[in-house]
Amino acid sequence: MTNDFAKHPVDESSAASIAESGLRYGLVDTSDRESFAAWFQADSRGFHGPIMSKEQVDSSFAGVTYRRTVGVWDETLVVPETPVATTSSWTEQLSVPGGRTIDAWAISSVTVSPTHRRRGIARSLLEGELRSAADMGLPMAMLTVSESTIYGRFGFGPAVFGADLSIDTKRARFVSTERRGRLQPVSPAEFSSEVSQIFERIRILSPGQIKVWPLRWDQIGGLAPGDDDYTKKTRVVRFDDDSGTPRGFVVYRVSGGEGDLTSHTLTVDYLLAESDEAYEALWRFVLEVDLVREVKAELRSVDEPLLWHLIDRRAVTATPIDHLWLRILDIPVSLSARRYSGAARIGFDVSDTLGFAQGSFLLETDDSGVPLVSCVEEFPPDTATVALSVNELSSLYLGGVTTAPLVAAGRIRELTDGAAATIERTFHSPVTPWLSVWF
Ligand SMILES: CC(C)(COP(=O)(O)OP(=O)(O)OC[C@H]1O[C@@H](n2cnc3c(N)ncnc32)[C@H](O)[C@@H]1OP(=O)(O)O)[C@@H](O)C(=O)NCCC(=O)NCCS
Repeated sequence: MTNDFAKHPVDESSAASIAESGLRYGLVDTSDRESFAAWFQADSRGFHGPIMSKEQVDSSFAGVTYRRTVGVWDETLVVPETPVATTSSWTEQLSVPGGRTIDAWAISSVTVSPTHRRRGIARSLLEGELRSAADMGLPMAMLTVSESTIYGRFGFGPAVFGADLSIDTKRARFVSTERRGRLQPVSPAEFSSEVSQIFERIRILSPGQIKVWPLRWDQIGGLAPGDDDYTKKTRVVRFDDDSGTPRGFVVYRVSGGEGDLTSHTLTVDYLLAESDEAYEALWRFVLEVDLVREVKAELRSVDEPLLWHLIDRRAVTATPIDHLWLRILDIPVSLSARRYSGAARIGFDVSDTLGFAQGSFLLETDDSGVPLVSCVEEFPPDTATVALSVNELSSLYLGGVTTAPLVAAGRIRELTDGAAATIERTFHSPVTPWLSVWF
């Protein structure tokens, strides 16, 4: 994949509406370290982050400037070079059911300075991002969100959910006592250089995952500058199978224990397993570390096998979170990109206030789940038909969302009896969608 997208000009209509407020909307010259540094400081300020050090700027300058980096500037300010709004976007492979991927426009770093909020800047930016993505022929946009209240109005719907886990180690005993393979401590540098080999072998089998960029692996491993406390505490353990091949890692930190050495908290920052035995061994490891009372793990799958490994599943408290939000831009291309559970004929009457995906679409799948998608005037007889907005179709897309609650909430309207159940059966992904990183 090339990064021609990085130079794609900003959307003219958004530039015009932003210019009406006396502001300028444009691309950041990412070959210029100072321009990037000003943008990066604005991005950090937008998320209430610290003023970034020289080392952090350098590391991000090396790590994320392949992206299309966009700013809005108020040239009347005392510091005109620092943007008052930011976004950063790139073409990313999103895994979809059937062991395939779709190119999607990943949107990140959406910030508007607190001094310029609620004047419509984010609306212009987001609509501009969607028009640019459509212009480049991308069928889908996606983001992970700080708040779930923002993006519905732009046609996004939550499609991948996560769970933050808190586990009481005293109650977490395993059903099986069998131990296989070998665990060993390794350095964060080893993690960072080896993890992507394992991740790349399983990425496309797990709908919802994206191709993780090298700086993110460094950040997970505590190698990126900026968070000394995280870096000092990060530990990594690797699982090798009986033939000595690495099959998984856990990255973790231990904290607390003040006043009572037995009451530490172990935080799992990343756990990746290529095989069932690696998965079990790595979880068993973190749950059996001495002097630890609680194990925490954020952004895990909502369908963790861990609960089925434990005798007492109430040892685990899971707090759900909506994580990846999708926004279909091109329905025929998006629906054709994945595979389905079997033969069906489904009609979608789709509304889209921004117009990208409005219309009537027929999805026909054969016995092997291979799709044929067309735009139609009328649905043929025997079509399971629903009316819904692009938000709901985007939520359903990866096959991790059931339809009955959407019907009950009035978000999907069945135009033929039982159509929602047909969609659920046809779209269902045998692997629960999971995205293991923020972007
Ligand atoms: C979220 C943020 C980008 C919004 O920027 P903004 O320029 O104030 O937003 P706009 O004025 O363009 O608002 C656009 C619409 O979104 C709504 N909106 C904006 N922020 C919202 C929020 N936090 N929650 C709910 N609705 C919000 C506005 O009411 C407006 O609605 P409408 O056009 O349908 O009437 C900005 O507040 C911000 O930088 N927040 C902190 C960083 C962050 O959370 N970014 C999102 C990362 S995923």
